[in-house]
Amino acid sequence: MKIESKNIEKSSYIQKKSFYIKNYGCQMNLSDSDIITSILLKNGFYLSNNIKDANIILFNSCSIREKPEIILKNHIEELKYLKKNGVLFGVLGCFSKKFKDSLLKKSKIDFFIKPNSYKIIPNIIISLKKGKKDKIHYNNYHHQNNSSESYEDITPYRIKNKSITTFLSIIRGCNNMCTFCIVPFTRGRELSINPDYIIKECYKLYKKGYKEVVLLGQNVNSYKWNNNNKDQTINFANLLKIIAENFPKIRIRFTTSNPHDMSDDVLITISKYNNICKHIHLPVQSGSNKILKLMNRKYSRENYLFLIKKIRNIIPNCSISHDIMIGFCNENEKDHLDTISLMNKVKYNYGYMFSYSPRPGTYADKKLIDNVPKYIKKRRLKEIITLQKEHSLFRMNEFLGKNQEILIEGESKKNHEHWYGRNSQNLVVVFPKKKHLKIGELVLVNIIKYTSATLIGHII
Ligand code: SAH
Ligand code: F3S
Repeated sequence: MKIESKNIEKSSYIQKKSFYIKNYGCQMNLSDSDIITSILLKNGFYLSNNIKDANIILFNSCSIREKPEIILKNHIEELKYLKKNGVLFGVLGCFSKKFKDSLLKKSKIDFFIKPNSYKIIPNIIISLKKGKKDKIHYNNYHHQNNSSESYEDITPYRIKNKSITTFLSIIRGCNNMCTFCIVPFTRGRELSINPDYIIKECYKLYKKGYKEVVLLGQNVNSYKWNNNNKDQTINFANLLKIIAENFPKIRIRFTTSNPHDMSDDVLITISKYNNICKHIHLPVQSGSNKILKLMNRKYSRENYLFLIKKIRNIIPNCSISHDIMIGFCNENEKDHLDTISLMNKVKYNYGYMFSYSPRPGTYADKKLIDNVPKYIKKRRLKEIITLQKEHSLFRMNEFLGKNQEILIEGESKKNHEHWYGRNSQNLVVVFPKKKHLKIGELVLVNIIKYTSATLIGHII
């Protein structure tokens, strides 16, 4: 009888300290969720697999565009029924003050915490649980703290720990101030992570059996670490080289590169090492010089195309992907055609395409007018998506008949008899399983078919 009541006590204690994280947005958010999980576990909280069982529900928000904000708002509405018996709702990550205020008006959110302050989450939860309803203080905490936190003392808890590929942040925040972008406001100033920490983390990942690491940052090319003792600076090219040489069995990917500071050294380093994947994500945003200037992107169409030429010369088998945003302020038909002509020149392997939405607090929101009508944005977006599909097919065709080295990542969702993985160029490849092989192994696959998004083949 006694034991039973003890168990009930224990399970209710665990339940009270159980948390669940819902993710919105980019890989950076996923990577942050691993850091948040680690912080909470270290402080005696428990990770719940089911949102309905959790006592603390954390929404890792994304404000980069209007859409993820709307999705998050709707989810909070749908989950309102869970907010009873002391369950706390916390919004973390990327959010603007305007979004925070609008959420507060509609929903009962207990606390808001920005990416540079995750370490205070346990204390805030404990205080709130104790009934200290000093919400204003917690809600406003992020406005007082604009410095970046590197989390170098934390080993991220990999939530998706069955995977063999994972993310590692090497630089946080962004100093670029593209006029449309909210990131410098929500994530704060740029901060490069100590290379010793990065190497140690890579080693841990290697020991745990990970086969691929994706180095993350808003702008990995501006990575810079000054080692005062040795009077030497480690830039992104040096960092890539160190990781590639120390972990020859790990595949290395990285994202995102800002075209304006992609150096020849980085390109040469990629070309030199087999374990650095031959893929560069190079957001262009627009093909019009007028728009690039308005966006404060710090490169011209000509600079960008010259960089593409260099990439193709130095790394001939490199795939290139993009982000393009249509409908930015003052974008006219000629600007749009400039984007289309740039796409035709590059013929990207794939890309992510967006329609501009003003983000509160940015230069564009304050000083420019969102003057491209919605129906025109819709049409322009559709045009570039269709064009990209053509280019993707063109690029996929280049792999036909070729043998590709693929890291087996898992079972194909469409067919349990098939595996999926990616080649060095970051293209998804699907192929029939073979019994003696398993997830995490590298195999040679001969490509026999393709769609615009997938290569199809068989192991040779
Ligand atoms: N660091 C990256 C961009 C990160 S944001 C870079 O250097 O480009 C990811 C993408 O979201 C951007 O490339 C852009 O295409 C899109 N984006 C950012 N702000 C946006 C906005 N206000 N409206 C629509 N799309 C936006
Ligand atoms: Fe945003 Fe430009 Fe930085 S798009 S994340 S401000 S590089």
